[in-house]
Amino acid sequence: MVYDYHIFICTNDRVGSEKPSCGKGHGEALIQKFKLLSKSALPESKIRINRAGCLGLCAQGPVVMIYPMGWCMVNVQVADVDAILGELKQNRPLMRLLWNNTEPN
Ligand code: FES
Repeated sequence: MVYDYHIFICTNDRVGSEKPSCGKGHGEALIQKFKLLSKSALPESKIRINRAGCLGLCAQGPVVMIYPMGWCMVNVQVADVDAILGELKQNRPLMRLLWNNTEPN
């Protein structure tokens, strides 16, 4: 099946480590919220929500990537999911969460 949007959400949890990881935050809660809202927010689109391992921006997590556009959003909160999907419907990223790849990670 070909999807219109593929949303990867980091749920990596570094058990026993002090290093930050998205799974220690609320990566799993983000999965559930995206699954709950995506069908009603974009009923015409085929959307796949996937758990992802570390996406390399741990200190700025939780991290969400949306393909095929390749948008990377950082510090994503559960309360942001509605706004992310609303912007996705307009085919644009939620700018305030978009990772600025000129910053060191
Ligand atoms: S643990 Fe989520 S980006 Fe590394």
